[in-house]
Amino acid sequence: MQVFIVYAHPSEDSFTRHVRDRFIAGLESAGHRYILSDLYRMNFKTDMSGAEYQREAYYRLDAPVPDDVLAEQEKINASDAIVFIYPVFWSEAPAKLVGWFDRVWTYGFAYGANRTMKQLEKGLMLCIAGNTLEYFHETGLLDAMQKVMLRDRLFDRVKQKEMIILDNTSRELPARGENWEKHLKRAFAAGQNMGA
Ligand SMILES: Cc1cc2nc3c(=O)[nH]c(=O)nc-3n(C[C@H](O)[C@H](O)[C@H](O)COP(=O)(O)O)c2cc1C
Repeated sequence: MQVFIVYAHPSEDSFTRHVRDRFIAGLESAGHRYILSDLYRMNFKTDMSGAEYQREAYYRLDAPVPDDVLAEQEKINASDAIVFIYPVFWSEAPAKLVGWFDRVWTYGFAYGANRTMKQLEKGLMLCIAGNTLEYFHETGLLDAMQKVMLRDRLFDRVKQKEMIILDNTSRELPARGENWEKHLKRAFAAGQNMGA
């Protein structure tokens, strides 16, 4: 299957970068193909322009969709599955990725009548977090993050949806080193299983 990876981390010196590479290794080992959008490296513009806002807020539905947005939409429609790999920043995705949704999920493509976005077979949120999974459960933040990402953003645009949190990876804690290989194995397996 063809997998579109939307990757958002500002630094190559990060655990998240290792997760991305291991996930790709898993994909390749299972014979899957992929397209990668590395949002920071691409310098993807994530602020909506006034004209884009007018279009998305139903002021001017005939306004054109910018070329960089069309390019992302083409990658989606050329794929069978979509994977987002990102660190949790303030209990959300980095603003870079949130802005990608603001701009790429356009009226007529991702929502509204006669939308042209292909319904994808599978969607995976592969999140890297400093906090523990227990903390996310106890605080209700896990539920919040899943609802925003899976229920709201992916919604019925994707048939099979999952969020995996690779937790307890704060740089200052020994747990980061202890969890390192376990998490990378999980990322590899997630890549291998994309077709399942
Ligand atoms: C601005 C910022 C905000 C963050 N907010 C959270 C957060 O809300 N919850 C959390 O679990 N980790 C948070 N973290 C930790 C990141 O998820 C961290 O990057 C993660 O441990 C992955 O390590 P890496 O950056 O080496 O890939 C934050 C980090 C930064 C830089």
